[in-house]
Amino acid sequence: MSQPVRYAHLTGWGRYAPSQVLTNADLERMVDTSDEWIVTRTGIRERRVAAAHETTASMAAVASLRAIRTAGIDPDDIDLILLATLTPDYWMPSTAALVKEAIGNTKAAAMDVAAACSGFVYAYSTAHAYITAGLATHVLVIGAELLTRFLDYSDRNTCILFGDGAGAVVLSASDEPGGGLGIELTTEPQGAYMIWLPAGGAKSPPSTETIARGEHYIRMEGKETYRFATRTLATTALAAIRKAGLEASDIDLFIPHQANIRIIEAVAKGLDLPMERMFVNLDRYGNTSAASVPIALAEAANAGRIKVGDTVVIVAFGAGFTSGAVVIRWTGDPARGIAGDAAVQPEDVVIRAPVDWDSVDPIPPALAALMATTGGVDIPLDDVAPGDQPTHQEAST
Ligand code: ACO
Repeated sequence: MSQPVRYAHLTGWGRYAPSQVLTNADLERMVDTSDEWIVTRTGIRERRVAAAHETTASMAAVASLRAIRTAGIDPDDIDLILLATLTPDYWMPSTAALVKEAIGNTKAAAMDVAAACSGFVYAYSTAHAYITAGLATHVLVIGAELLTRFLDYSDRNTCILFGDGAGAVVLSASDEPGGGLGIELTTEPQGAYMIWLPAGGAKSPPSTETIARGEHYIRMEGKETYRFATRTLATTALAAIRKAGLEASDIDLFIPHQANIRIIEAVAKGLDLPMERMFVNLDRYGNTSAASVPIALAEAANAGRIKVGDTVVIVAFGAGFTSGAVVIRWTGDPARGIAGDAAVQPEDVVIRAPVDWDSVDPIPPALAALMATTGGVDIPLDDVAPGDQPTHQEAST
């Protein structure tokens, strides 16, 4: 007797962004840059910065509980947790294990996924495979990053690009058609050293020398990365779309990795589609690496940009060089996401601290000094639709 076909529906989504905002004008006071240069070359206007008490795990747990509420299940219904990040709380244990405890789950297997900015798409594909193979019923897929602690604040090529945040989705088994329709993942290791963090791993363990050389910060060849992104995003998306038996024009909304508006414009051009089919929120968050796609997906759903029956493509590129795309037939009620967000507050989440150990101040001194001069503007906006939220300047007045 043949097994019944199982589909992996996207049933829950949630996001969390720290309330501290760092604008381009703030960065002008730290490095030789300008708001005009950053907006023209990247489209970014501001990004979020995690407070000292926040970690990748704490942000991930808030987004996860919101996604679980949106899905209408209990945390303990989750039987697999996959967390994509390049900024884990520790080398070990996995950040996924900390999140499992914080959300009150007792039965899930939990692991981290390392594919840089493509990490969430890779984790989503893995969750899809587990569910359709009958190995899991509800999988929590998270993208979470705390990049502002890994940036060289004297390097204007990188420190203007990145921000912090987390997004999560729940995939659930169903015998009704829907969910993932086509998947494409690629890895091109010839680009391995175009974006990398040299020290801290086994090849170059942390030492006073590696720190003196600034090798604990992200390094990037911007131009080569840009070339790779513009080449790969459209072709990766198209490969996934063709596997789903569709054409680019059949896709209602693309959720691309939010790295640079010019890269997203190139994708739209490459697919011969108008920019209205591309969801963009990088102006307010910058590049949040593995968190960028799930934050954008949750925002797009809550803002009414996705309807039941729509076909959506998530597509990302990143260090490795990796890229990935998934075509998704949307079945979740978009109204559930706003209620899910409202039901969970950051204070609801506690990440258990280690016994007899205090970490040093986690904020890089240059960033701490800059944040102290921004007037401490906090924007409590975690669940506001795009366009509704005040900018840093408005909030200060
Ligand atoms: N402010 C002002 N000037 C700057 C800045 C800055 N922040 N940064 C660079 N410049 C200068 C350069 O020094 C250069 O000056 P020069 O002409 O006198 O030499 C000039 O501006 C042009 O620099 P380019 O590097 O050519 O600028 P470009 O248009 O390529 O934009 C950028 C740079 C934004 C980094 C772009 O290349 C890019 O977005 N690349 C992709 C990066 C990316 O997406 N990374 C994420 C990867 S995902 C992951 O896995 C982490």
